[in-house]
Amino acid sequence: MNTKAVVIDNGTGYTKMGYAGNNDPQFIIPTTIGTAGGDVKGKGGDKDKGGGGNLASKRGIDDLDFFIGDDATANAHSHALSYPVRHGQVDNWDHMEKFHQACIYQYLRCEPEDHYFLLTEPPLNAPENREYTAEIFFESFGVKGLYIGVQAVLALAASWTSKREQTLTGTVIDSGDGVTHVIPVAEGYVIGSSIRHIPIAGRDITYFVQQLLRERENSIPPEESMEVARRIKEMYSYVCPRIDKEFAKYDAEPQKWLKKCEFIHSITKKPYTVDVGFERFLGPEIFFNPEIASSDFLTPLPEVVDQVIQSCPIDTRRGLYKNIVLSGGSTMFKDFNRRLERDISKLTASRLEMSAVSAYSTLGQNVVQKEIEVNVVQHKRQRYAVWFGGSLLADTPDFHGYCHTKAQYEEYGPSIARYNKVFGSVV
Ligand SMILES: Nc1ncnc2c1ncn2[C@@H]1O[C@H](COP(=O)(O)OP(=O)(O)OP(=O)(O)O)[C@@H](O)[C@H]1O
Ligand SMILES: [Mg+2]
Repeated sequence: MNTKAVVIDNGTGYTKMGYAGNNDPQFIIPTTIGTAGGDVKGKGGDKDKGGGGNLASKRGIDDLDFFIGDDATANAHSHALSYPVRHGQVDNWDHMEKFHQACIYQYLRCEPEDHYFLLTEPPLNAPENREYTAEIFFESFGVKGLYIGVQAVLALAASWTSKREQTLTGTVIDSGDGVTHVIPVAEGYVIGSSIRHIPIAGRDITYFVQQLLRERENSIPPEESMEVARRIKEMYSYVCPRIDKEFAKYDAEPQKWLKKCEFIHSITKKPYTVDVGFERFLGPEIFFNPEIASSDFLTPLPEVVDQVIQSCPIDTRRGLYKNIVLSGGSTMFKDFNRRLERDISKLTASRLEMSAVSAYSTLGQNVVQKEIEVNVVQHKRQRYAVWFGGSLLADTPDFHGYCHTKAQYEEYGPSIARYNKVFGSVV
């Protein structure tokens, strides 16, 4: 019997699920649910008032009439679609419970009573959310044990696979579909006061590419334009070193750089061709020059990372610059790490220079300061780093010791889940 721990990472865009010890999640499905009878929106953090109506209807047939993932999208004509996770946080607990139910019984096909579960949470998640999750997993599913890991810490563990030192100190850039977080972690503990969110993530890049294509390409059927933009973004985008030079490169040799992409209409099955040009590098450029897409948020990602690290305790900073770890689908652009590393290094070098000048002017002599090592780490499991980090940790012999058990839950109630031990810590 497979008694491996179950690892589930519920993202804003996609849910990744599978068993501990594996390299990849077994299922990756959109975090979407389609419910019959209209969508009653639950309030964030208010489990009992979640959508789904009164108790009678909860236990009735209505309760079984729902789809999740791609099946939900396919049944959108008869079922109201909703997204139980928004910007990384659970937005509707009733829908979330149903979503989990289908993940466990329909996808993973496991008996939850036989397994320990590792779930993930965004940084600064409210402790009440952990209690709601514990209630669902212990009471509705009767799981053996539960651990809720912070996504950034799991992402750090995921980068251990390469021949690097196993440290839980580093800065995680987790960029998924709905949000990008920059999270400093020192010895497994998130430095909460320094976390920053950036309102630019995969979905925004897709919209931007869609907009660029709309201005130039008229072969794309409007109903498919979003999907086409997403595929182009995922397949052909890359990060360039300098945007002006990149434009010049395309102008000089368009045939070399422009791509012709074939698509097939999902309904008529007719093929059509799309010319892909500057979109290839302009999409991810919004991380580095956000003003090209919007006027709401203007700080480039490398500056945000630098500000985050500078706001952390001084004795942690070198470790945080040395281990900047990427996680999530929207960090997958080719050369994303190189551009980040270069731009962050420039910022630290110019700061060092300025402090040398000011030291000289006050002390009248040169003060030699050690250069700051900046490493932006990319690795093979970056796409599903949070899930993979969970899979790695939940497969260690110590894992059960970190979990809350069913017996503890029965004795003390949901409040036990408010706190989850940090891996590697003694308390
Ligand atoms: N090869 C790729 N290049 C660029 N973007 C990609 C690639 N593969 C996936 N993406 C994008 O990554 C995003 C999904 O990433 P991920 O699964 O990490 O997000 P999530 O965990 O669902 O969301 P969040 O972490 O914001 O809650 C989508 O926008 C998708 O288009
Ligand atoms: Mg995620």
